[in-house]
Amino acid sequence: MALRHFLTLNDLSPAELDHVIARAIELKAEHRERRQGVQFPNYVLGMIFEKASTRTRISFEAGIAQFGGHAIFLSPRDTQLGRGEPTEDSARVISSMCDIVMIRTFEHSIIEKFAEYSSVPVINALTDDYHPCQLLADIQTFVEHRGSIKGKQVTWVGDGNNMCQSYINAAIQFDFKLKIACPEGFDPRADLVEAAGDRVEIIRDPAEAAKGSDLLVTDVWASMGQEEEKAERRRKLAGYQINAELMSHANPDALYMHCLPAKRGEEISAELMDSPDTVIWDEAENRLHAQKALMEFLLTQ
Ligand code: CP
Ligand code: NVA
Repeated sequence: MALRHFLTLNDLSPAELDHVIARAIELKAEHRERRQGVQFPNYVLGMIFEKASTRTRISFEAGIAQFGGHAIFLSPRDTQLGRGEPTEDSARVISSMCDIVMIRTFEHSIIEKFAEYSSVPVINALTDDYHPCQLLADIQTFVEHRGSIKGKQVTWVGDGNNMCQSYINAAIQFDFKLKIACPEGFDPRADLVEAAGDRVEIIRDPAEAAKGSDLLVTDVWASMGQEEEKAERRRKLAGYQINAELMSHANPDALYMHCLPAKRGEEISAELMDSPDTVIWDEAENRLHAQKALMEFLLTQ
């Protein structure tokens, strides 16, 4: 068996990513109709959370349980991880007892180091730089509502954060055009933008960036770990909100997404959040199905 990790979307080929999305849609139907198989009885998923979570924790824990397995929630507060045990030692030990591990942490280099020393697949459940699991759910949601995302235009609105940077990876892997509307000082990493070539463009004016778009996406202005910058970010990112006015510049059937948790009245209007037409709740639910497809893929390599 080949050991595969999912630290960014680049760890899977475009064909493998398409397979995971198609499988997520199948697993969703199987789950809804109560005809799902128990693919991984007695498998154990280790879940390391150094940051808070609702969706990620529930979706991974429910997902492995539905496969017949079990999850162990590991918080730095109650383990030696929080007392400075080296990442490589933790990785060796945890991976010797678990079949697969997911990690939500700060610096991306932590998860890279963990993966280097792990004997089982490691999944990035969010780092300061990337949130690839959320992208699987977002792409699944787009495919379910609008068909293939290949050749479409996506507009990112707001902070050039971990979600935005995973959208840059997705633009390459799923072959769509990404326009990023962010104020100066909030750009995603320059090396990522440069490597994406003409797939990715930074445009300061959100209305201009929304023109011709099939999907608008945003996220909180202050990510976890940036709590002290909240007020300054609110001031500098004002004007980068997804609302009905901004949607009027996009294609008439454009969707909008938000990974959640959301701040109504900041990066997204309350009107759009609470619209009966929003796909945001499907997007959240799809975390479950997309990650089950991902775990199945990694555990069967
Ligand atoms: N979108 C997302 O990852 O949500 P949580 O922080 O609740 O896991
Ligand atoms: N950018 C956000 C995403 C939360 C799911 C954060 O890192 O806090």
